[in-house]
Amino acid sequence: MTAPAAKCAPFLKWAGGKRQLLPILRAHLPTGIADYYEPFVGSGALFFDLAFRGMIRGTAHLWDQNPGLVNVYRVLRDSRAELVELLSRHKKQHDPADSAYYYRQRARFNATNPDTIEHAAMFIYLNKTCFNGLFRVNSKGRFNVPMGAYKNPGIFDPENLRAVSRALEEVELKVADFRELDPAGIKAGSFVYFDPPYQPLDTTSNFTSYTRGSFSESDQRHLADLFGRLRNAGIPSMLSNSWTPLVKELYAEFHIQPIQARRSINSNGGKRGRIPEALVLNYAAKARS
Ligand SMILES: C[S@@+](CC[C@H](N)C(=O)[O-])C[C@H]1O[C@@H](n2cnc3c(N)ncnc32)[C@H](O)[C@@H]1O
Repeated sequence: MTAPAAKCAPFLKWAGGKRQLLPILRAHLPTGIADYYEPFVGSGALFFDLAFRGMIRGTAHLWDQNPGLVNVYRVLRDSRAELVELLSRHKKQHDPADSAYYYRQRARFNATNPDTIEHAAMFIYLNKTCFNGLFRVNSKGRFNVPMGAYKNPGIFDPENLRAVSRALEEVELKVADFRELDPAGIKAGSFVYFDPPYQPLDTTSNFTSYTRGSFSESDQRHLADLFGRLRNAGIPSMLSNSWTPLVKELYAEFHIQPIQARRSINSNGGKRGRIPEALVLNYAAKARS
């Protein structure tokens, strides 16, 4: 893929977004990336950084199990002008002093299939105006976050959306479970970055509801197994997770280190602050600064 002309950055607020950890992630990358795989793409902080720096020589594969999120990327890639038009209308109609418009859009969002330009526009609008920018769904898959108290929410930045749309031009976007990644189908020289829902630190910090199902201990074990199969296939892979006894045990045979992260989305303000996270590599990389 070619580097986009202008700087592109994540345009969604996303729990676990990796923007502030980019310098550390960059310092541990392998030299040279052919195809790039990110099976838990979320707001795509690492992908947009690599794309802007022109570091991906082959094709990028961005997957996520959240169909509305993948639809947002598809729409932005294929129908940016129409999307921006709808976002401008949301921006005009949003009233920070009256939540009626927000709740009407939330109801419409939950009643619409996640495969239209309208759905993508509502997704971005709700993400930028909801409480804490938290995309959370209940057990029926319905988005249930109340309106946030932003006086003047910046709903979108047209310049950034143009650059992002360009960065997505030749990207494979797919609604998929991470288990669909098959090491045998990945070209030599490719790189995989995994940023799954984190193993909870304790029973009260269990934010795993980006999608209808939650991410269980068995999912964490499947992921560690896939990480090992990628190593055996010679595919360099990097993974982020919380720094918990289970994560340390699952990745003990790899290069695992604690890195310091600032938690930015937590409904309990008292829990914000620096906490260690795990960075795991299935290859030997000297940290570059
Ligand atoms: C920690 S977030 C990724 C954050 C991302 N790195 C960023 O910068 O915003 C985890 C993502 O995994 C997705 N997800 C949850 N379960 C999944 C599964 N079984 N397979 C694929 N994606 C899944 C969620 O929808 C969420 O977007």
